[in-house]
Amino acid sequence: MLSNTQIILVSHPQGMVKASDMTLQTTQLPAQPPHGHILVAIKYISLDPAIRGWLNPGTTYIKGVQIGEVVRAFSAGEIVESNHPDYQVGEYVWGLLGAQQYAIHNGQGLVKADLSKGPLSWHLGVLGMPGMTAYFGLLEKGQPKAGETVLVSGAAGVVGTTVGQIAKLHGCRVVGIAGGAAKCQFLTEQMGFDAAIDYKNENVLAGIQRTCPDKVNVFYDNVGGDILDDALAHLALGARVVLCGSISQYNSTDPRGPKNYMKIVTARGYITGVIVFDFVERYAEGINAIGHWLQTGQMKVQEDVYEGLENFASTLLKLYTGENFGKLLLKI
Ligand SMILES: NC(=O)c1ccc[n+]([C@@H]2O[C@H](COP(=O)([O-])OP(=O)(O)OC[C@H]3O[C@@H](n4cnc5c(N)ncnc54)[C@H](OP(=O)(O)O)[C@@H]3O)[C@@H](O)[C@H]2O)c1
Repeated sequence: MLSNTQIILVSHPQGMVKASDMTLQTTQLPAQPPHGHILVAIKYISLDPAIRGWLNPGTTYIKGVQIGEVVRAFSAGEIVESNHPDYQVGEYVWGLLGAQQYAIHNGQGLVKADLSKGPLSWHLGVLGMPGMTAYFGLLEKGQPKAGETVLVSGAAGVVGTTVGQIAKLHGCRVVGIAGGAAKCQFLTEQMGFDAAIDYKNENVLAGIQRTCPDKVNVFYDNVGGDILDDALAHLALGARVVLCGSISQYNSTDPRGPKNYMKIVTARGYITGVIVFDFVERYAEGINAIGHWLQTGQMKVQEDVYEGLENFASTLLKLYTGENFGKLLLKI
């Protein structure tokens, strides 16, 4: 009989998430998954900023994780037992399989990973949920046009680098905002961005004015807070602001909204939000497009991989301190 080690929520975090909000638990797995279910051996767990929000007790776009439950996470793995007609042993899948070694799942919402498009880990990043967020958030909500300026915050992360590269492929001028010289250099020298602003070491508004002389047509925001206000202050006429995330506020007990929202009025623009789950029916389109760009060398991937389920909480924290450099993953 197989045993399964899991990350269990023991307290809803107050402010910054702590390692002590979670614990390791080992359970025994049944000999066979129930009828209509599969057993997945998880190979990679994705550390996503949204996990912090999911650990709150209330419901937003998805129900919060309850005390005693396995911490929600996107994971990818191999099917090792199947009692489900649509899934075969040996196939690879990704989805909300949780922070654990093995998952018993009914298959709903899982995506089969086509490894001809890229290694399994990429299916939690650029070919997975964050990649789909960037693809549909930018193209559907941001509506970028060739020649326009696209500004993206949280630019050195998986969503940010994917947004920036897709915008470049659509003929835009692309400027990223990221923390530190190394990440800014990475954006311009490796990811093809036209310019980068180091929000930790320069005045962000002055940086936006310097790098976006024709103002900002699309602002893709992953960060919120002061950076959102600075971007709102430099919008072009008809600008589109896509709110994708607000990581600067996720661990705050008093999250704040934008002060400069009237700039949307003078720009005759709009602010809109994106939730990736709204595009589930169209994931194949996004995966095919990004898969093509990867295979033809038009898009690059940056991963930051750690090991060991016991390091789940400490690895998660790296997202909120900016210690991760690329798509943050845990190899199991
Ligand atoms: N709406 C949706 O459906 C959806 C889906 C997926 C992701 N998202 C959002 O997309 C955003 C990016 O996600 P990701 O997976 O690509 O993460 P990521 O960018 O790879 O990692 C998070 C990064 O956020 C930055 N950060 C942390 N605290 C910050 C602060 N106080 N101010 C400014 N930057 C800060 C850090 O970069 P620096 O070193 O540059 O500070 C850190 O590396 C998140 O907000 C996430 O919630 C939304």
